[in-house]
Order: sequence, then structure tokens, then C-alpha cells
Amino acid sequence: MSILPAIRLASVVKRFGDLTAVDHLDLEVPRGSCFGLLGPNGAGKSTTMRMLTGQAEADEGIVEVLGHRLPGASRHARAVSGVVPQVDNLDDELTVEENLAVTARLQRIPRERRQEAIARGLRIARLSERAEAATRSLSGGMRRRLLIARGLVHAPELVLLDEPTVGLDPQVRQQLWSTIAEIQAEGATVLMSTHYIEEAERLCDEVAVMHLGRVVAQGPPATLIASHVGREVLEVDGAPPTLARVEHEARSAGLRTRRSGTSVAVLDAEQLDGQAWAQGERRKPTLEDVFVVLTGEELA
Ligand SMILES: Nc1ncnc2c1ncn2[C@@H]1O[C@H](COP(=O)(O)OP(=O)(O)OP(=O)(O)O)[C@@H](O)[C@H]1O
Ligand SMILES: [Mg+2]
Repeated sequence: MSILPAIRLASVVKRFGDLTAVDHLDLEVPRGSCFGLLGPNGAGKSTTMRMLTGQAEADEGIVEVLGHRLPGASRHARAVSGVVPQVDNLDDELTVEENLAVTARLQRIPRERRQEAIARGLRIARLSERAEAATRSLSGGMRRRLLIARGLVHAPELVLLDEPTVGLDPQVRQQLWSTIAEIQAEGATVLMSTHYIEEAERLCDEVAVMHLGRVVAQGPPATLIASHVGREVLEVDGAPPTLARVEHEARSAGLRTRRSGTSVAVLDAEQLDGQAWAQGERRKPTLEDVFVVLTGEELA
């Protein structure tokens, strides 16, 4: 017997005029997993997320959320999902607490449990002290925290987080990571997009790398690393001419390279044996190397 996935997208297409933002996308997110969507700007991550909440409608293909087929069942899908959008849509006219209260009501949390749900939201946002503050008075990071807490206030079965930790300071980012891990431990499914590859590597059981509206690779981070970028990376620092020479030599030896700022990373470095140009630091490959190899783009 197969367990129904939390999310199923089959051959989904979304066009904006001449642009195909999502191009025959196939994706299944297992129940209870933390699943990461990685991809450069414009890859189609947010568009995909918006189709899962009924904010955007697919032109072709099948979109199912917890067994509900969209767009017909989008109200149902929204009731079981918590959404943290990439673009802030908090209500500036309300207080912090009121923003949570509106969602609690919309999500039909019974009246007698609303206060408790709001208090939980305030704790997640670490804004209990600011409950009465005007939302417009919050700092950028506080708004982000409130936006996240608002998506979690009704303890949804499926949590959709679009770039949740952009603009958060490192400490709050780590707190959010533990919140996400807790939500998952409680049995929820988490789908998140992120540009922080470390975040995906730490939190996600599985990731999909998106490029030009399609999934170009999918699997557990360790499996993707092992199958796309070999076992070792040589990192060479230096001035541009040195880096150019290293790139030339490495490529002549059939090895892949990636340039980032003031260094060149030579992939598959386990194949090297003491060449004079190959001086630098050895490190383990990361999911970021996979991302660059597959999409040809560096991260911001
Ligand atoms: N409402 C819209 N109208 C027209 N084009 C759109 C619309 N929404 C998205 N697009 C286009 O669709 C493509 C995919 O956009 P999307 O926002 O899904 O990318 P993304 O992967 O989330 O990128 P980012 O990492 O920058 O958030 C882009 O080329 C974008 O300009
Ligand atoms: Mg986006």
C-alpha cells in the first residue's frame, strides 16, 4: 500500500504570457518530510508554492495537496496549510496580536482555543512583549518572524515557507530552524524554498533543485552531493590571473570548476595527484556545489 504524498505535482505548467515559469514540473513531497526547493532567482519556486495555495492556477497538469485536487479544493487545501509568503503581506493597520487573531479566526480555530493559539504564535515570533505594538513599528526581522508565526498559528498539517529566513539575524535564523524541526517532529510536512543552502542541508530530508521551471535533480542532500560533485573539492585562492590558470589546468585535466569571488573551487579533486598548480585547501563538497553545477549560477 502506498502512502499518499503530502504534495503531488504532475506535469504542471504555469505560463505568464510568453514566459513559461513552471514547465512540466513533477514533484512529490512525502508526508512528514521537510522538503527543500532550491533554485536561482526566477526558477519558479514561488510560482510553484502559489499554485499549492490556490493563489495561482496551473495552466496544465495535476496539483494535489493532502489528497485535495486544486483548484477545485483550494479552500480545503488552504485550511490544512500554513503559508509563509516570500513577500510580506502583514496588515500594517493592526497590532502584532491582531494580525495573529485574524488568521486564527480565518482558520476557524474554535473561539475557546484562539487565545492559546495566538500566545503560541507570539512565542514562535518571540514577540510576546510586543503583542500590542503596531505592526508598522516592527523592525524588518520582527516582521519576518511575525509573518512566519502567522503561518503556523493553526498548527497546520502542511507548512509552506517561501524564503522564510531572509533578513533574519543568525541567531533568530537558528531559532527558526529549531521551530521548523519541532513542527516536523509533531508530524507536519514542511515545504520550503531557500537560498541558504546550509539551511536546506541541515533541515531537509530531501531537496529538489529547480531550474527554468523544472526539477533538475532531487534526493536527500547527501545523495545529491555524492552523485553530482564527487568526493573532494580543492579551493584555490588568488589573484584573477592565478585563478584563470587554475581553471585552465583543471579543465584541461577534465575536472569541473566554479569561481566564486576570489577563489576557484576544483571539483572531483580526489582525481588530482600533486600537480604544481593544484595548491590550496581541500574540503568536502556541499549542496552549494551541486546547485552551481546543476544550474550554472552562483548564489547571491
Ligand atoms: N504574476 C506574474 N506575472 C508575470 N510573470 C511572473 C509572475 N510571477 C512570476 N513571474 C515570472 O515567473 C518566473 C518565476 O518566478 P518565481 O517568482 O516563481 O521565481 P522564484 O524561483 O521564486 O525566484 P526567487 O528566488 O527570485 O524568489 C520569473 O521569470 C518571474 O518573473
Ligand atoms: Mg521566489
